[in-house]
Amino acid sequence: VHPVHIDAGALARVATIAREVAPAHRYAVISDENVAPLYAPALASGFEGDATLFTIPAGEPHKSRETWALLTDAMISAGLGRDTTVLALGGGVVGDLAGFVAATYMRGVPVVQLPTTLLAMVDASIGGKTGVDTPGGKNLVGAFHPPAAVVIDPETLATLPPEQLRYGAAEILKHGVIADAAYFDEAAAALPTMLGNQERSPDRWLPLIAGSVRIKLGVVGGDERERGARKTLNFGHTIAHAIERSTEYEVPHGVAVAIGMVVESRIAELAGIADAGTADRVEGAVAGAGLPCEPPAWLDASTVLEATRTDKKGRRGAVEYSLPLRIGEMNPINEWSVSIEDEIVREALAC
Ligand SMILES: NC(=O)c1ccc[n+]([C@@H]2O[C@H](COP(=O)([O-])OP(=O)(O)OC[C@H]3O[C@@H](n4cnc5c(N)ncnc54)[C@H](O)[C@@H]3O)[C@@H](O)[C@H]2O)c1
Ligand SMILES: [Zn+2]
Repeated sequence: VHPVHIDAGALARVATIAREVAPAHRYAVISDENVAPLYAPALASGFEGDATLFTIPAGEPHKSRETWALLTDAMISAGLGRDTTVLALGGGVVGDLAGFVAATYMRGVPVVQLPTTLLAMVDASIGGKTGVDTPGGKNLVGAFHPPAAVVIDPETLATLPPEQLRYGAAEILKHGVIADAAYFDEAAAALPTMLGNQERSPDRWLPLIAGSVRIKLGVVGGDERERGARKTLNFGHTIAHAIERSTEYEVPHGVAVAIGMVVESRIAELAGIADAGTADRVEGAVAGAGLPCEPPAWLDASTVLEATRTDKKGRRGAVEYSLPLRIGEMNPINEWSVSIEDEIVREALAC
């Protein structure tokens, strides 16, 4: 699909890697206000004056068309031409947005993804999906734009706010559910201690980062444009996106995914798709990682159900779910996603 470099201290080698995989006259480093002061100076120093930094405000509300417009205007004003490479330095918000800037700037320039959150290292930076949110929902405007390379430096986890490690854990568990029961068990066993101790050592995180990258590359490799098997990566996300949207993004993506995986495994059992006990195992692992298993009490089921209806996965207007048969194996029927009756969704939300 695309090269991925994972190793401690890799950020120091980005200039060399970028010049090789995406040689350009100018490099546009796109980052947010939290990450830029920490890592942009060292990154830019490798480029000897060819790099220009563009900083956006942090947070999901800024993954928008408005920020896309500000960034592309600023790049045009800075005189960046077609021979520009974008470097996306930050979490999934920066990665999705900078990736979409790269996909559209001058009809498309290369992007190198430099993920700095656990969630972006294990999931968002891999596979080439880019985009922005709109008032109508998450990621509704975007493009497939695979990166020229992804460079993962787990040393950047050192400065990550504590709760952000948990958010990444949600996507790690997702990879286990959709593709690999042994990996699920390994992650479910390791995460409670690692998160409890606020583990930051690159050595401790490397096996999980590498495991998730391997699984995601494997799924994406067979289906880059999400016509089939790639849909399995949306496990948990129909409910997650509905929760994010109906709380105006107050519930972070990783938390919404945790809740979404529990609810959607219950849906899978209620619909007779998943083996009995699947939802309990997902719930046990999610709770073990210190993540919530149900939507916030003040959010009622009808609001979530209503919000699922604008999710982009709808085919012929129906809301679709990618559901597990059991841990490690997804339901391939109907091109990997099925529509579910409202009654079942309500029941799963109410558990
Ligand atoms: N494209 C995909 O395939 C894909 C997959 C999963 C998620 N996503 C998207 O990713 C987004 C969520 O990404 P996220 O969870 O990384 O959130 P985020 O990008 O908002 O980052 C979380 C916070 O951590 C800060 N931060 C990042 N790295 C830091 C570091 N090393 N030290 C200190 N602070 C740091 C950021 O400034 C931000 O405040 C969502 O928009 C989601 O839709 C995309
Ligand atoms: Zn996700």
